[in-house]
Amino acid sequence: SKTPVRVAVTGAAGQIGYSLLFRIASGEMLGKDQPVILQLLDLPQAQKACQGVIMELDDCAFPLLAGVFATDDPDTAFKDADICLLVGARPRGPGMERSELLNVNGAIFTVQGKSIAEHAKEGVKVLVVGNPANTNAYIARQAAIKVGRTNPANYHGMLRLDHNRALSMVAAKAGRPVDSLRKMAVWGNHSPTMYADYRFCTVDGQSVKSMINDEAWNNDVFQPAVAKRGAAIIEARGLSSAASAANAAVCHIRDWVLGTDDWVTMGVPSDGSYGIPEGIIFGFPCECKNGSYKIVQGLEIDAYSQEKLNKTLKELQDEAEAVKSLL
Ligand code: NAI
Repeated sequence: SKTPVRVAVTGAAGQIGYSLLFRIASGEMLGKDQPVILQLLDLPQAQKACQGVIMELDDCAFPLLAGVFATDDPDTAFKDADICLLVGARPRGPGMERSELLNVNGAIFTVQGKSIAEHAKEGVKVLVVGNPANTNAYIARQAAIKVGRTNPANYHGMLRLDHNRALSMVAAKAGRPVDSLRKMAVWGNHSPTMYADYRFCTVDGQSVKSMINDEAWNNDVFQPAVAKRGAAIIEARGLSSAASAANAAVCHIRDWVLGTDDWVTMGVPSDGSYGIPEGIIFGFPCECKNGSYKIVQGLEIDAYSQEKLNKTLKELQDEAEAVKSLL
């Protein structure tokens, strides 16, 4: 049988963790023949809750769960990890300024990026879910680069939830099953400035844009609906999206590790593609094969799209500027 894959999950006692851990342990992320060891990190005050989650994981008797432990020490949690899912983050408190939020989280992700680079496997794949996801990933990556050892290309931020939201909305508008849709792209920051780009989408090789044939829909309905989906869920549920966020993390890692025959949106460090400065963690359409990913190249960026890209890039550059002193 296969050697277990070590998956570290931070914020393990939180809402997303409560959905995510069970799906990893059941084999949905890495395959039904791949044993996993879960290494849970959370704050000292959440250790008791982590033990409760471990009791429930035990009670599922998952055949693929080869081990699980919880700790409040990052070095222990990331030790020999093959995959790190950085979910835990400090939420925005009442009256907290955005710059303050960036800085508190910056401190967390500096420590964790360094710890991962020192203790995880050299080929570790890192996905940051905790918000602000792109900038937290940027900080973790910069901290990791200082240490060396791990691959700087493997520090990602999560835009897959935005991608999946866009897929679902476009499929509904086109009146086609969601799994018949191909080639969705979401560009930029995981924030309301993201650009959900359905111009390249196809169903059975046909252009979805010409199928929908409604220019105003994109601007007046689709763009704001994707951008405000997170807020709409908080409004309806009284809590932020958790099961769908966990699902997106499962999709991101599954596709990265196992490959895909479609485009998937990943927040990856730019290599300069599409004029996005190197190192900025930016949502791009990617293709995955043999455990690595490639940014889809050569897509036409029209004037409308360029304006959208500029806006979301500007926001990311402002965030990077705000955390500069931490790097
Ligand atoms: P939650 O508040 O239920 O859980 C967060 C957990 O993280 C708590 O158990 C907390 O103790 C822990 N934590 C805080 N600081 C930590 C640290 N330094 N080390 C380890 N653990 C730490 O929050 P929830 O709903 O699970 O969301 C987690 C994060 O994911 C939030 O930042 C949220 O904004 C973000 N999110 C991102 C999405 C995306 O698409 N990128 C979608 C939805 C949520």
